[in-house]
Amino acid sequence: RNEEAQKILEAHQWLSKLYHHLLKHTKEGKEGLEYLLNRGFTEEMIDHFHLGYAPNSKDFVVRFLEKKGYHPQLMVKAGLLSSNESGDYSDRFRGRVIFPIRNHLGKTVAFGGRAIHDQEPKYLNSPETELFHKGRLLYNFDLARSAIRKQGAIILFEGYVDVISAFQAGVHNGVGTLGTSITEHQANLIRRYVEQAIICYDGDRPGIEASLKAARLLRKAGCTVKLARLPDGMDPDDYIKVNGAEKFQREVLGASDTYLAFIMRHLRKEYNLNLEGDRIAYVERVVKEVATLDHAIEREHYLKELANEFELSLDTLKQEVSEHRRRSG
Ligand code: UTP
Ligand code: MN
Ligand code: MN
Ligand code: MN
Ligand code: MN
Repeated sequence: RNEEAQKILEAHQWLSKLYHHLLKHTKEGKEGLEYLLNRGFTEEMIDHFHLGYAPNSKDFVVRFLEKKGYHPQLMVKAGLLSSNESGDYSDRFRGRVIFPIRNHLGKTVAFGGRAIHDQEPKYLNSPETELFHKGRLLYNFDLARSAIRKQGAIILFEGYVDVISAFQAGVHNGVGTLGTSITEHQANLIRRYVEQAIICYDGDRPGIEASLKAARLLRKAGCTVKLARLPDGMDPDDYIKVNGAEKFQREVLGASDTYLAFIMRHLRKEYNLNLEGDRIAYVERVVKEVATLDHAIEREHYLKELANEFELSLDTLKQEVSEHRRRSG
């Protein structure tokens, strides 16, 4: 079993080298390289993250791995090949730009592939294997670790593209969850390294939902959470490409919201605060969130803000918060 894992790691290493070589030095890889350069990634980033290209072939990787002596059935288990009922093997990644996904020890255990034309799905990752558990791994954690320590903060992005884009913009303490929000396991892992976490997910509906989920898990794990401020509909990569590195650092990361400010900003869009019923519902939602804050000073800060804006008595709001806190023990 251990031997099997070793073989799988080796195969990833070979393949990662091959994909990278194809991207940089071959005719087949040229459109992959052009795609990345057109997106604004530099050669330096392509090397640093060892990006590659999987040729648009049914069996290029099948033949390569066979030649290297890897059993195709094991390579299916590794997530590198697919097989059908009649026992034919085929390449899993075809005609895609490749992002090697490393574990915390820096070993490549999976790949992510982005379509360069309009193939579906746009992103295809390796399946879960014995070496790759999406909910346990943070993309780029191995390389970001020292920057995380030095800066005393970790920045969470949705995936590899945003991590690399941010890295190119000088942000070296970024890691990626792979398309979904983080898990409890990942939150606990983060807390073991650092207290401050900045969530920088996409500024669209799924990104905002995932941000709230991540914020709750991270707070539960004991982190102090901030949430970056992206304009509606933009993701970090879009923002950097449009507005540049400096503005990203200053106005997106630098001006990130506290958990409560983020909630308030987004709830305000869901309610029509000119209507009495909505105003009450909004205040109740916010008060419930305030009740989850650990520090009395922080709670008072937001309650005062609410009291002022909605012309309510601070005492009533405080009572309400105490009630919530008593109930949730
Ligand atoms: P998005 O769905 O936000 O990608 O996924 P996007 O910004 O539209 O893609 P581009 O900019 O056109 O290329 C964000 C990240 O989540 C991961 C990928 O790492 C992706 O970069 N992801 C997304 C997955 O791993 N799997 C998926 O199915 C989707
Ligand atoms: Mn998308
Ligand atoms: Mn997204
Ligand atoms: Mn995105
Ligand atoms: Mn994007």
